[in-house]
Amino acid sequence: MATGSSSVSPAAAALLVLAASATVCAAQLRRDHYAGVCPDVESIVRGAVAKKYRETFITVGATLHLFFHDCFVTGCDASVLVASTPNNTAEKDHPVNLALAGDGFDTVIRARAAVDAVPRCRGRVSCADVLAMATRDAIALAGGPSYAVELGRLDGLSSTASSVDGKLAPPSFNLDQLTALFATNGLSRTDMIALSAGHTVGFAHCSTFAGRIQGAAAPDPTLNRSLAARLREWCPAGVDPRIAVTMDVVTPRVFDNQYFKNLQDGMGLLASDQVLYTDPRSRPTVDAWAKSSVAFSQAFVTAITKMGRIGVKTGAQGNIRRNCAVLN
Ligand code: HEM
Ligand SMILES: *[C@@H]1O[C@H](CO)[C@@H](O)[C@H](O)[C@H]1NC(C)=O
Ligand SMILES: *[C@@H]1O[C@H](CO)[C@@H](O)[C@H](O)[C@H]1NC(C)=O
Repeated sequence: MATGSSSVSPAAAALLVLAASATVCAAQLRRDHYAGVCPDVESIVRGAVAKKYRETFITVGATLHLFFHDCFVTGCDASVLVASTPNNTAEKDHPVNLALAGDGFDTVIRARAAVDAVPRCRGRVSCADVLAMATRDAIALAGGPSYAVELGRLDGLSSTASSVDGKLAPPSFNLDQLTALFATNGLSRTDMIALSAGHTVGFAHCSTFAGRIQGAAAPDPTLNRSLAARLREWCPAGVDPRIAVTMDVVTPRVFDNQYFKNLQDGMGLLASDQVLYTDPRSRPTVDAWAKSSVAFSQAFVTAITKMGRIGVKTGAQGNIRRNCAVLN
């Protein structure tokens, strides 16, 4: 990837430099991991993701959500993609993963099929890396930062629903709980705030914020009143499990720093979003990124690069799955 081009904007150049310095720290992951076996892998994946994105913008949130849920449970090893068998209930069938949209799985399956359609690449590129690349491409397609993705993850050898327990945050978590959970994955509070901006795209079901608009604890005083009124219309009492609402109600299709501007207006959809503004310890970061999309983009690229290193499998710890949904 050329970093010296004069057409690169200062902001983009900063991102490239940042990503390059990140590569040095990750011994086992490399940007050019597939240079020898499948040199065009990035453009092949990008083409497949772009095609899927043209069909539906749900692709963006669905793919990013999948990458997050993969990395936080037994590392970024594509274990979330594995289907259950009569003998084994896999990660994807844990109750917290039932919200993962089919379009995310479909994006990875299609991108991997495009890779495998090239004879020299067939069976050489891991599902975990395809998910990492597809996530990067989906974010860029939605207008977010484009970054160099580190590669060289192997696919995990197991996937169990029980391994998901306690690994993902419920939307009721406060700042200390969120910070502690991310810390167990080597991510700082700053990384956690940056990654929470994944909620600048995608949908949440009414049940995930219903407690803020209905019931004993409602209305949540930190929720913007006009948004609360709209949410009560969209999610009438009784919570229809089929209804999902865009998490960024202002620019739902764009990967941008509107997420942080929304928090300043009390428009974070989940309690765990809004707490980032309510808590005085994280509010200065929210304010800074609401003001500067460049600062947010840099922090997000740093954080998602770190997230992509969680629990990476190498050597005998993994393999390259023939079918991403089936353990070899
Ligand atoms: C900080 C703790 C987090 C909590 C409590 C949380 C919680 C949630 C919840 C409850 C939903 C809605 C699920 C549904 O009803 O369909 C959701 C969706 C989503 N989350 Fe998070 N999340 C967190 C962090 C993250 C991170 C770190 C990322 C990625 C960087 C992320 C990306 C997404 C995306 C993209 C969606 C939308 C999925 C779609 O449109 O299909 N989340 N999250
Ligand atoms: C399930 O386990 C049984 C006995 O351990 C084995 O014979 C069978 O092949 C397994 N089935 C699958 C689908 O893995
Ligand atoms: C509620 O949101 C609107 C924008 O939708 C904003 O103008 C207003 O200031 C917000 N109210 C509060 C209390 O933040």
